[in-house]
Amino acid sequence: MYTLNIDTQAFIKQHWQQKPLVIKQAFIDFEDPIAADELAGLACEEEISSRVVVTKGDDWDVVQGPFEDYDQFGEDNWQLLVQAVNHWYPDSQALVEAFRFLPDWRFDDLMASFATPGGGVGPHIDNYDVFIIQGDGERRWKVGDKGQHKRRGDNPNSPLVDDFEPIIDVVLQKGDVLYIPPGYPHCGETLSLALSYSIGFRAPSQQELLTELADSLIDSNQGHKRFNSVDEPATPGMISQSHQQGIMDLLTQLAQDPASYQTMLGKLLSQNRFELDICEGEEPLTADELLEAIEQGAIIQRIGGLKVLQLENDNEQRLFINGEVYTFANVTNDMLQLLANQVRITPEEASVFTANAAALDILTGLLNQGLFYLAEDDCE
Ligand code: SIN
Ligand code: CO
Repeated sequence: MYTLNIDTQAFIKQHWQQKPLVIKQAFIDFEDPIAADELAGLACEEEISSRVVVTKGDDWDVVQGPFEDYDQFGEDNWQLLVQAVNHWYPDSQALVEAFRFLPDWRFDDLMASFATPGGGVGPHIDNYDVFIIQGDGERRWKVGDKGQHKRRGDNPNSPLVDDFEPIIDVVLQKGDVLYIPPGYPHCGETLSLALSYSIGFRAPSQQELLTELADSLIDSNQGHKRFNSVDEPATPGMISQSHQQGIMDLLTQLAQDPASYQTMLGKLLSQNRFELDICEGEEPLTADELLEAIEQGAIIQRIGGLKVLQLENDNEQRLFINGEVYTFANVTNDMLQLLANQVRITPEEASVFTANAAALDILTGLLNQGLFYLAEDDCE
């Protein structure tokens, strides 16, 4: 188990989404959740997103995985980065759980990195919040202030920026954490062979929201209202200010009506950017078999990275799981809360399900879809 050695509520008030923070010894007696050779092994897999960044003086070459071996990269000046390690390596899940003082919908993934001396990805700006956790080895981090930073190569879409004046310049050691909100330029340089972890959090952009909203309105056959004017401009070639406003108010109305946006938000925010390791068993489980397994002490475990979300003030009994709506009749809110908040359900907690046939069926269905598994399964 990993326990973050900070006052999380004070952190949210003073730093979260606002300003960077170095937390020395944020994890006491930190132990790497994954070994370098295991990480290298994950990067051999086709379905796992990985890359090696090679430092070449003042430039960085990116080689996309999968990788069979690393000999070509030599002894120094490169870094392996593997995304969504929490999906593929269950032991890393405990590190993610230390950050569940922030809501699951914001969480993106756990990226793990192995870096050789001189390795780094270059000075860049992310559009998400990141907690960088140092494992074995040492890395020096510089963080600059927010503001206008010139993009490298004058490419406005590149995350790489020119060198910046640091407001933080720190060497991270095992158990130290650096928190960086979106927009702050930063750059890590590896001093000795190092393992480090980035816990990323992101929120949807307006582009993503509008795309999803449009799809959702089409699916649910809503959003047909059109602009209706009360006055007309004096000149025919003009789109008047009041018409501009009135047309855009149609969107505001949608944004103010939970019936128009709630399902869309639940689906969008429960999706995952990275592939999940769906744990489908060979034979579907029956409700009776599940009951028996629970009675024998089985733990019902969510697969790594799966989002199970509830909407506050929802008029329906439902959960949003991996971009889909699951409507539950005859199930109490306690059960929905348990599924949404616990990544694992102990046999004692599962008793609320086993006492209710409809609920047991739902749980059986989620297991058979490979979204949950019994902890003694070999998906663990
Ligand atoms: C790194 O570990 O060098 C990249 C992490 C980050 O900048 O977010
Ligand atoms: Co970054």
